[in-house]
Amino acid sequence: MIRSVVRGYGAALPKRVVPNRELEGIVETSDEWIVQRTGIRQRYIAGEGETTASLGEEAARAALNRAGLTPDDIDFILVATSTPDNTFPATAVNIQKRLGMTHGFAFDMQAVCSGFVYAMATADMYIRGGMAKRVLVIGAETFSRILDWKDRTTCVLFGDGAGALVLEAAEGEGTVADRGILTAHLRSDGSHKEKLYVDGGPSTTGTVGHLRMEGREVFKHAVGMITDVIEAAFDATGTTAESLDWLVPHQANRRIIEGSAKKLGIPNEKVVVTVDLHGNTSAASIPLALSVALDDGRIKQGDLVMLEAMGGGFTWGALLIRW
Ligand code: ACO
Repeated sequence: MIRSVVRGYGAALPKRVVPNRELEGIVETSDEWIVQRTGIRQRYIAGEGETTASLGEEAARAALNRAGLTPDDIDFILVATSTPDNTFPATAVNIQKRLGMTHGFAFDMQAVCSGFVYAMATADMYIRGGMAKRVLVIGAETFSRILDWKDRTTCVLFGDGAGALVLEAAEGEGTVADRGILTAHLRSDGSHKEKLYVDGGPSTTGTVGHLRMEGREVFKHAVGMITDVIEAAFDATGTTAESLDWLVPHQANRRIIEGSAKKLGIPNEKVVVTVDLHGNTSAASIPLALSVALDDGRIKQGDLVMLEAMGGGFTWGALLIRW
């Protein structure tokens, strides 16, 4: 059977690093509060000329270089983002243009913080359905531009960045020993819309709006939703917490990550945590975390890796992949 195998990875961060201390001058907060409640120590904030598309392009070029490929080899670009450069056209076609690519097709996907898991699952379907052989899957965000910088309950949590993977069709045996995406499980429940949303949009206010969140409510649901969907991925593949080499979660809050791992019986040594470095970069957080763990040699070819995310909507999902 056809499997979607990772051939390359890349990441991009804005130039400006903003440590917690710097936020103490903007809102009434403290480094201690932020570290204790979230694990975040710093985040990167986009400056002039840095956009979701520019960061996405940089991550895509790095992923192509590592794969030894050029834009000519790609037939589909899928970008997960909630902070596009323009309402339309899609950031994916913006990146397609920046890469000098005039063939194939490109579009965006919007599932907020679950965007990268949704995009990987979607790319896998296009590959296994025969519509694409090589896909650039990008998670790219500039959440700093939709934050209310007067609201301390949200503005300290998020950051900007992008990450990308190149997926390629390869023959597999149909077993969990195959390299590539082994299973994906997506969920959403729109009844939670008001708990995490942006209070503007083209069809309502005609403005971009700002992120609004009932943090405590999100927290309350997060661990249960994440663990349910990871258990669905274990059940579908006959794998267990013991078979896993790495859990690479969406990076929103260290307490949510550790709470989920504990409930699943996954030791902290197997969990990749980068929320301290990047803050919550929404759809970019998983590929950014992957790139850190690939750069430092933790994740190796053949490793069994679980990706998971939960975010606005609510949306949530898990995807099991053999690297
Ligand atoms: N600095 C200092 N104090 C603060 C800050 C801040 N930045 N923000 C809030 N506080 C205060 C509150 O006002 C409150 O004060 P009070 O007790 O006098 O009313 C106190 O700190 C505690 O506030 P809580 O909201 O109860 O704090 P909590 O422990 O729940 O932590 C947090 C808040 C970090 C937001 C947590 O609820 C959380 O992580 N929730 C999940 C959020 C999340 O993961 N969101 C991303 C989802 S992904 C996506 O799709 C975007």
